[in-house]
Amino acid sequence: MNAAFPLIRPVLFAFPPETAHTLTLKALKLGLGPKIEQKPDPILSSTLWGINFPRPTGLAAGFDKNAEIIKPCFDMGFGFVEVGTVTPKPQKGNPKPRIFRDTKTQSVINRMGFPNDGVETFKTNVNAYLKDQKRDGDILGINIGLNKDQTEPAEDYKTLIQELGNIADYLTINISSPNTPGLRNLQKRAFLMQLLEQIREELDKSCTAGKTKPPVLIKLAPDLDEEQREELAQTALDAKIDGLILTNTTLARPDYLGEYYRKEQGGLSGKPLARKSTQIIHNFYALTKGKIPIIGLGGISSGEDAYKKIRAGASLVQIYTGLIYQGPELIDEASVNLYQ
Ligand SMILES: Cc1cc2nc3c(=O)[nH]c(=O)nc-3n(C[C@H](O)[C@H](O)[C@H](O)COP(=O)(O)O)c2cc1C
Repeated sequence: MNAAFPLIRPVLFAFPPETAHTLTLKALKLGLGPKIEQKPDPILSSTLWGINFPRPTGLAAGFDKNAEIIKPCFDMGFGFVEVGTVTPKPQKGNPKPRIFRDTKTQSVINRMGFPNDGVETFKTNVNAYLKDQKRDGDILGINIGLNKDQTEPAEDYKTLIQELGNIADYLTINISSPNTPGLRNLQKRAFLMQLLEQIREELDKSCTAGKTKPPVLIKLAPDLDEEQREELAQTALDAKIDGLILTNTTLARPDYLGEYYRKEQGGLSGKPLARKSTQIIHNFYALTKGKIPIIGLGGISSGEDAYKKIRAGASLVQIYTGLIYQGPELIDEASVNLYQ
């Protein structure tokens, strides 16, 4: 699929975005994805939280929501793969259409609302991968979120940690999707301090003896004002958060987006997000004095973009929308060309 992507892209783009995504998942499940041999390269590898990441570029959350195609994603050349967002109960998400492409600006607006098959199916899928397909060195992140009807957010996060804490290499607490009502309000000091305490208690209880507890990362939105950023950075330090994932999609709509496209509700990702997310990374790196590792993402569509995130303070990067427009070649470009 790698070299063939320029031929495949017009076919995929002839379909509505969500259909194109479903077709891509099917093709990857059938083993039709590219297989890029990853030779160990000390220049590309890094150790964070005691985990060795063989390459700096990972798959961002949302692409493989149900953990169905973990192995094919590693085969494409990702150094780590983040699956989810998964919620305790299955849910349908928002009515379709809910993903919109704008080829001119190489961006996407989505208002998916966490459609997923729920934690039971998710866990079965992850366990099947761990049993039969996992290779040494593959790093699996699990991104967890809450069901739309949950009024006690901590309850859902606790359930998910009980179920998945034992099998994740790292856990991402998603409090930044713009498509679950009230979720972004959780990006507050009082809530986060309490939530992190509960999460740590739950991890202590649910991680089997001998298994190291996974680091807990928080994924934040790019739409935070200066005061919010300062408060969150201090909270992250005080609560000893292991890592930050910066950033999720933005609610902003730059002027140059087409009139009809910009009116769609949801989070904007891809090229128009690149600068903003890099600024947020830079800002959090400074506010936390580089003490909290950052995974940087938002609009990466070249090795240069990835390098900008690293220069701003990220230790690792992730991609999603760039993959839609550039295909799997971007994975290698963003990893290998990062340091050239
Ligand atoms: C269609 C779509 C679905 C997404 N779903 C999720 C999700 O379930 N959980 C999450 O944390 N982020 C989700 N994201 C956000 C991405 O992980 C990423 O933070 C964002 O798109 C910015 O990176 P990018 O510009 O490389 O896409 C989604 C993004 C897109 C485009």
